[in-house]
Amino acid sequence: MPDSPMPDSPKTDSPKTDSTSPDSPRPDSRSAGSGGPGPRSAARGDVAAYLSEQESKTLLRFITCGSVDDGKSTLIGRLLYDSKLIFDDQLAALASDSRKHGTTGADMDFALLVDGLEAEREQGITIDVAYRFFATDRRKFIVADTPGHEEYTRNMATGASTADLAVVLVDARNGVLEQTRRHSHIVSLVGIRSIVLAINKIDLVDHDRDVFDAIVADYTAFAAQLGFDEIRAIPISARYGDNVSARSAAMPWYEGPTLIEHLERVVIADPALALPFRLPVQLVVRPDLDFRGFAGQIASGRVAVGDAVVVAKSGQASRVKSIVTADGNLERAREGQAVTLVLTDELDVSRGNMLSAPEARPHVADQFQAHVIWFDEHALMPGRSYVLRSETDSTHATVTALKYAIDVNSLTHEAARQLGKNGIGVCNFATAAPLAFDAYRDNRITGNFILVDRLTNATVGAGMIDHPLRRADNVHWQAIDVTREARAELKHQKPAVLWFTGLSGSGKSTIANLVEKRLHALGRHTVLLDGDNVRHGLNRDLGFTEADRVENIRRVAEVARLMTDAGLIVLVSFISPFRSERKLARDLMAPGEFVEIFVDTPIEECARRDPKGLYRKAMAGQIANFTGISSPYEAPETPEMHLRTVDEPAEAMAKRVVDRLLDSFS
Ligand code: ADX
Repeated sequence: MPDSPMPDSPKTDSPKTDSTSPDSPRPDSRSAGSGGPGPRSAARGDVAAYLSEQESKTLLRFITCGSVDDGKSTLIGRLLYDSKLIFDDQLAALASDSRKHGTTGADMDFALLVDGLEAEREQGITIDVAYRFFATDRRKFIVADTPGHEEYTRNMATGASTADLAVVLVDARNGVLEQTRRHSHIVSLVGIRSIVLAINKIDLVDHDRDVFDAIVADYTAFAAQLGFDEIRAIPISARYGDNVSARSAAMPWYEGPTLIEHLERVVIADPALALPFRLPVQLVVRPDLDFRGFAGQIASGRVAVGDAVVVAKSGQASRVKSIVTADGNLERAREGQAVTLVLTDELDVSRGNMLSAPEARPHVADQFQAHVIWFDEHALMPGRSYVLRSETDSTHATVTALKYAIDVNSLTHEAARQLGKNGIGVCNFATAAPLAFDAYRDNRITGNFILVDRLTNATVGAGMIDHPLRRADNVHWQAIDVTREARAELKHQKPAVLWFTGLSGSGKSTIANLVEKRLHALGRHTVLLDGDNVRHGLNRDLGFTEADRVENIRRVAEVARLMTDAGLIVLVSFISPFRSERKLARDLMAPGEFVEIFVDTPIEECARRDPKGLYRKAMAGQIANFTGISSPYEAPETPEMHLRTVDEPAEAMAKRVVDRLLDSFS
């Protein structure tokens, strides 16, 4: 899953990792073994032979997940220990730390090995996902270690998006918890089809088969709807090592493989290789006029010199002239490799576009349906605009409809008006520019995106695209002969939007009204959109919740935009309490057209004036979500004009607004 912010060089957009991490969340499987410390045996043996043996092993990427205390750290520590990947000095330190800080008496506390991560987090060092490397004689492994707390759904989704398998840990004493279900759902959404249900701390329930069977039955019933290909349940004790790498004598009733045996043998198809060729273009390389190459990491499939390729967004076709890499030119390349393709024709391709196999092209659309996992404190709101980042592309996107939220316990669909933190839902999206993508179920790399808050730049959600929306296919821009410039010219004016924002009772409407009268007297063509009035018609269906206000402003911004197309000077007088939507309105207009006017009146003064008697009611608790009292107002930070109504008469302020507008025209 791309991380935020999007950097420029190929594949540095990886989740933050610790020092034992591989270079990328999806490294070429041939180079993935470079991340970990050398095992003790390597120091003694023939290093070259060891390395070549490592090279030929397959790699399994997996994730561990489960509730906070289900034993993830202990399990990962145990895996590292059992695969002898811990240096002797680390072991000595662990033994002494375990005596000092451990929770396991005289035994070694393996959790201390990996819980350094927690300590770093407490110090405010951001580590979203730590990738840990270990190997056995048969296979190499990269395990994404993600924090288990409810807060960390984001990290979990990031870790899971590159994994082939998930080890879902359950504490035998607690059974399947909400967090187990939530994580399993996320794991299924991100396309993992192979699950190990590790029922841990089995020693604490006397290695009881009935407890094990009951949890397996419970989990299997829940997971039936999640589309996993395989669920392998294993009773383990990470602390004592039972059934991790050594078979447990305490559970003769269990005849299946140990965890390590299973991880070594489980067959994971490499679907990305079998998929059609996709190269999301990260960078256009143009060192001189004679060379133009398109650089990126091959998301899926293979490509060879001479192959036909198509530019997804334009449909232009060409052939591969050469495949350039840091290690010289190649005849062919495959999924996972970072390459620069030179084509036989000069085509216009920019970052965010995709080179693809001509016979199996990605979708190109500006509307689609997607599953969304929401991470942010602040709920996802239909109508609000976010930055959408796909593998290499970035555009603005709005949720046009929240179709339903998914209850993680029952997996039922529920009507919802917003999606709260850790929520999972299905939404329709509209993007500002067309995207090239595949459905996530067809391609995990070209079908996923993240959503970034436009103001804070925080990653607030992750999406998995289901399908393009048909309606987008059949709605095209219609060419119109009379342009917006022509309409404005006929009126002898330039269109503009005077956007008045401020608390209820701050004086917005009064000033806007005076401004319109002046402009009208000067022969200007105007229209005034007032919140209270528009709420009687177009926005009659909206109330005052945050979600409704977002939609209220989105609609009036679109209307204002249409009216500037008509050549009008538009006065908008809405509280418009959120920066995000005012920014959306600004971005809809042509550069320089949007004039934000902050009508700044202290709330005490508004309440004193109370022209509609609403403050009195709100303070008596009779109006919910009242701006400034029980609903926030985010004051503009850099408005074009700042009117302080307690210092200046309304007429004078109106004159200043008109003067400024006319100045800007001349
Ligand atoms: S906005 O927040 O969505 O931009 P808008 O400007 O359309 O609000 O409408 C604000 C007007 O609705 C106020 O001037 C007031 O007359 C009325 N109103 C009714 N309930 C509320 C409320 N809970 N909060 C603010 N204004 C309210």
